[in-house]
Amino acid sequence: MTFEALKPQVTSIITSSNSVDERLLAICQLLEQHIDYYNWVGFYFKNGDKNELKLGPYVGEPTDHTIIPFGKGICGQVAVSNKNFVVPDVSAQDNYIACSITVKAEIVIPIFLNDENIGQIDIDSNTPNPFSEEDERFLEFVCEQVSEIL
Ligand code: SME
Repeated sequence: MTFEALKPQVTSIITSSNSVDERLLAICQLLEQHIDYYNWVGFYFKNGDKNELKLGPYVGEPTDHTIIPFGKGICGQVAVSNKNFVVPDVSAQDNYIACSITVKAEIVIPIFLNDENIGQIDIDSNTPNPFSEEDERFLEFVCEQVSEIL
């Protein structure tokens, strides 16, 4: 399914009357089901006033990394940089937290609420170098939609 076709489905989930966590999980499921190179899809959010991320809803293999300190791994770096991080080859990264040996690439896009970086969507792929600027634009759209229910 194309990103353009997925956008109204994202909006439909966001505007439903389910709980926030149910809606976030439904977005993870939608993305993982319809984009074949999205193999783990999850949300991390700033954990209260601590300088760490806490895992939220996700689909894919369970991960031990439910708490990630700011600055650690790809996710922790995005918490500090406020910028998209596209990793075509995770084995080339020094500051990387491995969740599964099958993962080849990762993309993390921050979520902003009132200009503050409050979380992120994190996607792992088992395909090498699968992400393009279209993924970034689509995931920025997803993050903007998500920020409206936080
Ligand atoms: N690989 C991430 C850790 C989270 S897992 O991908 C679920 C990182 O380096 O921050």
